[in-house]
Amino acid sequence: MAIFDVPLDELRRRSSIKWRRFEPDVLPLFVAEMDCMLAPAVREKLEQALAIGDTGYPELPTYQEALADYAAWQWGWNTDPADATLVTDVVTGMRDVLVAVTEPGDAVVINPPIYPPFRGVCHDRRIVEVAMVDDRLDLEGLEEALRTEQPTAYLLCSPHNPTGTIHTREELERVAALAEKYNVTVISDEIHAPLAGARHVPYLDVAEDAVIVTSASKSFNLAALKSGLVIGPAAIRAKLRPMVSDGASYFGVIAHSAALTGGREWLAEAAEEIAGNKAYFAQQLGERLPQLSYAPSEGTYLAWVDCSPLGLENPGREFHQVGRVRFNLGSEFAQESAQFVRVNLATSHEIIAEAVARMAATASTLGGGA
Ligand SMILES: Cc1ncc(COP(=O)(O)O)c(C=O)c1O
Repeated sequence: MAIFDVPLDELRRRSSIKWRRFEPDVLPLFVAEMDCMLAPAVREKLEQALAIGDTGYPELPTYQEALADYAAWQWGWNTDPADATLVTDVVTGMRDVLVAVTEPGDAVVINPPIYPPFRGVCHDRRIVEVAMVDDRLDLEGLEEALRTEQPTAYLLCSPHNPTGTIHTREELERVAALAEKYNVTVISDEIHAPLAGARHVPYLDVAEDAVIVTSASKSFNLAALKSGLVIGPAAIRAKLRPMVSDGASYFGVIAHSAALTGGREWLAEAAEEIAGNKAYFAQQLGERLPQLSYAPSEGTYLAWVDCSPLGLENPGREFHQVGRVRFNLGSEFAQESAQFVRVNLATSHEIIAEAVARMAATASTLGGGA
């Protein structure tokens, strides 16, 4: 069985956000949960722990070692496990680093459209927006913002969510040069990196005085099993609240480590299926909604689709209310993106086809530009 061939009636037995947030007749392709079963390597390790009642606190640097080994194997990037601190998850890790390296009122750069918690973690910091241009980093805009707004931190999303952009080594080197020139701490969220494969460049491969926050959670669908890593200089990690490491769950550590160590073949298969799903989604859109142009993204299993040719007022809401299919609304990622939807393609062809059929039905019912 293919990884993403879990039947819809089985998926509907789940009670996570994806399957319980909206009405039962709504087909959910929103939040970044995958419609797959656990990678066998992860399941095996969790079952072994359950069998012997091994349900206590984490102690050993298993996750740090697994990530370092994975990074050397996948990206040729050598990082010392001792340079990584265990954290609850990526968002709280990012928040804790930001609190540690900035002061209330400091300016912090983000690149909209952006995964919504990037704004949330800035809470009492001042957000400086440098929008993506044609789905890539705007390096000139970035320099201008660093020069004029004098931020102390930059929250980089690498690969970028929602566009799926994989930043090139050249782009990241330019970011690193600017960060050094303007004395900005880059905090790079690399949670989507394992699935992006060899094309991803770890930010710490081009810079030293920066932080990566990462986890196996997105690539292996492990959000329920909380844990993550903050990687970077001891001087920065030493500023984290002393209790920060206590947030990760031991089952998170077991699952994420098993994924990175024993789940590599599973991930390669998942990445191949996702590439196929993107092509299938493009084909379905071409047949049923040829007004939309969709170019598959490089990283992530997310599609960022501009629906403005359909002439709908608020496409994401209308797809939900009329078509009974739910995507993330573009406005969650940037005010200017209200005509976009983010579609989660970590699912079966059957669900993708049904989702596009529901989009097309919405467009024809509301009779916009369709
Ligand atoms: C870019 C990005 N960062 C962080 C997260 C959430 O990570 P965690 O559950 O480890 O906080 C997501 C989830 O979709 C994400 O896309």
